[in-house]
Amino acid sequence: MHIRSFGVVLSVALLTSGAYGKLKFESVQLADEDAAMFPAISFAKGDNKTSEAECRAFPGSPDWPSVPDWDNFNASISGALLYPVIPAAACYPGPDRDATKCDFLVRSASTSHFYIDDPLMTLTQWPQGNTCLPALNTTGNCTRGGFPEFVVNATTVKHVQAAVNFARNKNIRLIIKNKGHDFGGRSLGAGSLSIWVHHLDEFEYLPRFKKVKYNGPAARYGTGLEQFELFNNMARYNITMVGSGVRTISANGGWFAHGGHGHLTSLYGLGSDQALELGVVTADGEYVVADEEENTDLFYALRGGGPSTYGVVVSVVVKAYPPTTLSSSSLSIACNPPADTNSRAQFAPISTATNFVNNTNRFWEAVNIYFRYKETIVNNSGVDWDYLYPLGSGSFSFRVRITYPNTTAERAAELLQPLYDNYVKAGFNFLPFNRIETIPTPYASRISPPPSSNGLAASRYRSRLLPHANWASDDLFNKTMAAIRESVEVGGYNFHSLALGPSPRAAGWPGRGSSVNPAWRHAVLHACLMTQQGVSLTAQAARDEEARIQGYLSRWRELTPGAGAYLNEGDPGEPDWQQGFYGSNYGELLRIKKERDPWGVFWATTTVGSEAWEVRVVDGYPRSQNGRLCRAGKTRVVEGRSL
Ligand SMILES: Cc1cc2nc3c(=O)[nH]c(=O)nc-3n(C[C@H](O)[C@H](O)[C@H](O)COP(=O)(O)OP(=O)(O)OC[C@H]3O[C@@H](n4cnc5c(N)ncnc54)[C@H](O)[C@@H]3O)c2cc1C
Ligand SMILES: *[C@@H]1O[C@H](CO)[C@@H](O)[C@H](O)[C@H]1NC(C)=O
Ligand SMILES: *[C@@H]1O[C@H](CO)[C@@H](O)[C@H](O)[C@H]1NC(C)=O
Ligand SMILES: *[C@@H]1O[C@H](CO)[C@@H](O)[C@H](O)[C@H]1NC(C)=O
Ligand SMILES: *[C@@H]1O[C@H](CO)[C@@H](O)[C@H](O)[C@H]1NC(C)=O
Ligand SMILES: *[C@@H]1O[C@H](CO)[C@@H](O)[C@H](O)[C@H]1NC(C)=O
Ligand SMILES: *[C@@H]1O[C@H](CO)[C@@H](O)[C@H](O)[C@H]1NC(C)=O
Ligand SMILES: *[C@@H]1O[C@H](CO)[C@@H](O)[C@H](O)[C@H]1NC(C)=O
Ligand SMILES: *[C@@H]1O[C@H](CO)[C@@H](O)[C@H](O)[C@H]1NC(C)=O
Ligand SMILES: *[C@@H]1O[C@H](CO)[C@@H](O)[C@H](O)[C@H]1NC(C)=O
Ligand SMILES: *[C@@H]1O[C@H](CO)[C@@H](O)[C@H](O)[C@H]1NC(C)=O
Repeated sequence: MHIRSFGVVLSVALLTSGAYGKLKFESVQLADEDAAMFPAISFAKGDNKTSEAECRAFPGSPDWPSVPDWDNFNASISGALLYPVIPAAACYPGPDRDATKCDFLVRSASTSHFYIDDPLMTLTQWPQGNTCLPALNTTGNCTRGGFPEFVVNATTVKHVQAAVNFARNKNIRLIIKNKGHDFGGRSLGAGSLSIWVHHLDEFEYLPRFKKVKYNGPAARYGTGLEQFELFNNMARYNITMVGSGVRTISANGGWFAHGGHGHLTSLYGLGSDQALELGVVTADGEYVVADEEENTDLFYALRGGGPSTYGVVVSVVVKAYPPTTLSSSSLSIACNPPADTNSRAQFAPISTATNFVNNTNRFWEAVNIYFRYKETIVNNSGVDWDYLYPLGSGSFSFRVRITYPNTTAERAAELLQPLYDNYVKAGFNFLPFNRIETIPTPYASRISPPPSSNGLAASRYRSRLLPHANWASDDLFNKTMAAIRESVEVGGYNFHSLALGPSPRAAGWPGRGSSVNPAWRHAVLHACLMTQQGVSLTAQAARDEEARIQGYLSRWRELTPGAGAYLNEGDPGEPDWQQGFYGSNYGELLRIKKERDPWGVFWATTTVGSEAWEVRVVDGYPRSQNGRLCRAGKTRVVEGRSL
């Protein structure tokens, strides 16, 4: 019965590529005949019965698939099933110990593409439970922690469909991993099957694309396309697309799933605002197209309504724009910079163009003048990207890069003049911001801070989208700045913020009708407090830190009633996350989630409907993925596990 061998299907696909308006990997799909050979990968076909089990199957539990089941599943996807070894096992006692490899991981992996290309690794370590960390001098053993068990190295839609069906039919926890940048562990999960979409990276330029109200250039690409590849294609086809500031994240994936910001966001909107069509594998295993005409519920939900919730996005068609220019300038202010140049370099590379203000109150006055100006930036389609660091002993640094897209250097200078004038008026003898760099957009990625994005970190973000209202009154603005100052000065936290204005006007059609957090539409500032969690902290210290930082964040929330936060750079421990990450869209999104995924196949922290399940964490780290996934509020059965 297995009439369509892999090779035959592929050659048919090659011949017909483009004929259906699809990428090649989308033409290779799971057929009923495949499921007839191995019923565990059968489609749901309208049968929405859900498993009654209290927990998902787990390695060692009676309902965990047998070895022959896994082998048959592997055969059904032409051998694309992996059981990857954690790379850092090379640093621990056991059969995988390898001093050379360990040395590479510790010394060089962060400046290579190694972790981005790994089927298991995510860049943020704490959510997997801080197990098996790469280090030259390890203690203890390498345990699997929150890493998945098996991984499907998906290179066709068929692989994705088979994995979704197998997980649903066998009550297995399913996760989706793209480039592994999620700060909250949403591409991890102990005892799970992972769909690794990394290799779904085809790109096709569509010079004339028509869709309802859109008629113009576009591009179709696979969900595994990386941002640097998006930029390369911009240069290749002489077009502009909306990409992120950092080049190693997926150009679709998690970035897109909750909005996705970049240099063009105040001009053209968020990443998810660019979508004209999506190719999706839904929880019932079917491959569908979602756009303004069909599967409109999915088209709404998948553009901003959160990652790993309604389906596996496999492809997207996005708008392409004419090439344009970005005009940029920077400002750097230092207060009592540390004498020791090493710690200067480590904490804040202060350029020669730094302005010194060696008085704390005057420093904050200068910072406030800058933040006042942020609204002008977004009102003129610009963005900025700043870091404000406390360096200890009354020392602070503030650095910002301002970018005005589609703006000449002359116009950018005009827009910056009032800021400079305000500094002069307040008695600051600042260097003029006249070093405006103007570059064509296809090379936009060059202007982001040097990519430190390939290495492992233990960052935990907490954030808030601050609306125009906080700029409308001097009183509220002053209180907002006082809260930021307190977080940095008293709290000692690193602060990072971006002026971003993806207004409905910038989003255009069909972006403005998406499910993206309404807080984005009123935003002036995406403000973050960054901390390091885990690695050097015990689980108890991590919990104490969690409680401490919430004190500062609650002040931000009080000053921004009804606003929200950006999940991708937000806190997995965000209180009232349904409101914070989804706002007034939550009810509708939950309805769609329940209708499209009554089984709860897709699950990740703080995604829509995720309150129905919880991870029974074994390591004690708050929000860790190191534990079994069970229905929320049931009797607690803690299970440990090892490699
Ligand atoms: C160094 C760094 C720089 C960053 N810079 C920016 C920036 O400039 N702008 C910005 O907006 N954000 C930025 N972020 C945040 C970024 O948007 C998120 O980390 C995002 O989740 C990354 O997506 P990913 O697909 O690469 O990661 P992953 O961790 O692989 O996936 C993230 C989430 O998306 C889900 N997912 C992935 N692919 C799919 C799919 N095809 N279908 C359904 N669900 C899927 C995963 O299951 C997971 O829940 C940055 C993060 C880092 C670490
Ligand atoms: C899946 O099959 C391929 C090819 O037969 C094999 O190389 C691979 O090891 C198998 N994967 C697992 C997890 O057994
Ligand atoms: C390695 O670990 C041992 C024991 O924990 C410690 O005494 C030693 O200083 C460590 N060496 C290095 C180079 O970190
Ligand atoms: C590591 O594993 C070995 C072999 O199973 C065991 O003897 C040892 O106690 C373990 N060490 C730790 C710290 O858990
Ligand atoms: C995943 O599949 C791609 C394409 O077949 C292959 O090049 C790659 O080596 C595979 N990755 C792993 C880790 O097996
Ligand atoms: C790129 O496109 C612009 C207009 O869209 C055009 O003026 C320019 O000549 C093109 N450049 C190249 C190298 O094709
Ligand atoms: C502030 O301190 C720095 C470094 O100590 C010094 O170079 C600078 O001249 C000082 N600036 C002012 C305005 O006092
Ligand atoms: C920015 O635009 C908003 C309206 O969206 C307006 O209320 C505000 O006054 C403008 N601010 C500046 C500084 O231009
Ligand atoms: C970009 O600038 C050009 C020239 O000023 C203008 O005509 C065009 O409308 C601008 N594009 C957008 C999206 O604002
Ligand atoms: C806000 O702060 C500025 C600068 O410190 C001050 O001049 C102004 O009076 C304050 N306004 C209000 C309403 O507090
Ligand atoms: C399951 O299907 C039945 C029959 O089609 C329908 O009445 C019911 O609402 C569905 N339940 C869910 C949770 O989708």
